[in-house]
Amino acid sequence: MAHAAAAAQNDDWSPSSWRQKPAAQLPEYPDKAALGAMEQQLASWPPLVFAGEARALKAELADVAAGKGFLLQGGDCAEAFAEHHPDMIRDFFRVLLQMAVVLTYGAASPVTKVGRIAGQFAKPRSSPMEKKGDVELPSYKGDIVNDMAFTAEARIPDPARMEMAYRQSAATLNLLRAFAQGGFANLDNVHNWMLGFVEDSPQGHRYRSLANNITEALGFMRACGVSGASTPQLQSTELYTSHEALLLNYEEAFTRVDSLTGDYYSTTGHMIWIGDRTRQPDHAHVEYCRGVKNPLGLKCGPSLTGDGLLELIDLLNPENEPGRLTLICRFGADKVLDNLPALIRAVEREGRHVVWSCDPMHGNTISVQGYKTRPFDRVLKEVQSFFAVHRAEGTHAGGIHVEMTGKNVTECTGGARAVTADNLSDRYHTQCDPRLNAEQAIELAFLVAENLRAEAKDKNALAAA
Ligand code: TRP
Ligand code: MN
Repeated sequence: MAHAAAAAQNDDWSPSSWRQKPAAQLPEYPDKAALGAMEQQLASWPPLVFAGEARALKAELADVAAGKGFLLQGGDCAEAFAEHHPDMIRDFFRVLLQMAVVLTYGAASPVTKVGRIAGQFAKPRSSPMEKKGDVELPSYKGDIVNDMAFTAEARIPDPARMEMAYRQSAATLNLLRAFAQGGFANLDNVHNWMLGFVEDSPQGHRYRSLANNITEALGFMRACGVSGASTPQLQSTELYTSHEALLLNYEEAFTRVDSLTGDYYSTTGHMIWIGDRTRQPDHAHVEYCRGVKNPLGLKCGPSLTGDGLLELIDLLNPENEPGRLTLICRFGADKVLDNLPALIRAVEREGRHVVWSCDPMHGNTISVQGYKTRPFDRVLKEVQSFFAVHRAEGTHAGGIHVEMTGKNVTECTGGARAVTADNLSDRYHTQCDPRLNAEQAIELAFLVAENLRAEAKDKNALAAA
């Protein structure tokens, strides 16, 4: 019955059918003619990704859903036009590779790497208006929509920004592909991904010792005749892109029919996700996403019930295709134990294939001395609890979703070289939410690797019993 209903629904889906639905968080463009002209322009430009790549990611995620891998997803809260610089992209990628290698080696698990990058420009906001003193202006909604400067002019949604976002995404993606495939990600470079400011920290030492083990293992394998030349997987990696599919005008313009399968794909990124604020089943964002074949993410916050989740799964993955849907849980460190089990049980009871991922960032934001921050111990605690619940339920903790940067920022408090509340002002650069710095990101990766090892041990014990 679910299938028949879905098929019937799909009959009336089109890339623009979301326009018939109520929509939260979409900007109101004052200049409709300029908006229409821009949408038409975008629709004629080349896609950023190819449908076959989105299918490859889906296949990897299907393995993760089956417990045979781990999803590492991370990047900026929001990309910014003013921060479009090759060093930013390179340093982000270095940290992601370091995390990936810690997980791959530490947990002996394949890691699917997905960046929150090359398209992460649109932001949902808790309030449509922002007030400073007596002045009230429309909120900043990300560089693809308006400008962060606090003036009436800057906050007007401007369609021309979509072109800029597209071009920046294309350039970023191009460099990432070059890094992933062109030698930078070669495992022989495992020592070179370390950032200068991390070298002398506790996490730097920990990473170096793991990297030494890898280098030694590679030397051994080379002596046995296995090298990059014989085994190209050692020389390159796959990095996929993702972002929140918030600005549907932009997404629609890049919704293309794949010539190989005849299916619709979003070509703005390999994976797109639906935010916790825009996941109403009868609203525009769910409507848009259900019709494209890409892997989808769904942010799951504390207000989501088991039944609510199943209703969304019916809409977004009616065929129960493994790899299609990743549930990105973001409850807050104190709420995981209360909220997560009910969702897991609902999904298990109905036999739905999903990837369970943990976003330990968005439920742990607090305000300290006028700065939005995230205490790192709460971030770690949310991840730890996420793993504990999955071990208790016998399900696979399949991934993490983090906001992180290769810049040496002080945005989240705590970590092995503790950032204090007073330090927040030192290097607080974020366009939007506080991000993990490289040290914190590596520390988190080590914690996840430990937990994955424990999960594997449980599984082996169960199989032996
Ligand atoms: N290709 C493998 C992978 O991506 C091994 C690998 C190459 C790798 N370079 C890497 C793993 C960098 C982690 C980080 O998993
Ligand atoms: Mn964010």
